[in-house]
Amino acid sequence: MLVLEKRKIDAQILEFNVMGDERGQLIALEEDMNIPFELKRVFYIYNTVGAIRRGNHANRYSRQILVSTSGSCKIHLDNGVETMEVELDKPNKGLFIANNVWREMYDFSDDCVLMVLSNKLYDPDEYIRDHDVFLEMVKNNLL
Ligand code: TYD
Repeated sequence: MLVLEKRKIDAQILEFNVMGDERGQLIALEEDMNIPFELKRVFYIYNTVGAIRRGNHANRYSRQILVSTSGSCKIHLDNGVETMEVELDKPNKGLFIANNVWREMYDFSDDCVLMVLSNKLYDPDEYIRDHDVFLEMVKNNLL
């Protein structure tokens, strides 16, 4: 039987500095400062419907940071060997996800706005959308 080496998931929770004053709060995200990569793309997900799960893929090359700028949601991560769940519930909490990590987003609150920063432009060809294919690639050391 092939036993895969236990690998720590390549992801990290980040806490951003909040520059608040009597007028309210402000967070600044800057390439190579608190964002540990070249910033090429930002997209955000909102008005997410009920019990839906989004994501369900791994990116071959994109490294990303997810921030719930409003409301909350949960992220399921999977490196083919182990899994973890992270709740994003504060605008100053970010989740860095390396490339080749499977992710699913779920439990969106009605007011959730999930912002994603990426070091790559959108390229549908870098997606692995089939979980069995992902597991097979991990097993065969292709990632
Ligand atoms: P999709 O990959 O299904 O989103 P999720 O991973 O959150 O479930 O993307 C939805 C649509 O948006 C799909 O038609 C591709 C398109 N899209 C872009 O054009 N650019 C992007 O940066 C992203 C993330 C998606």
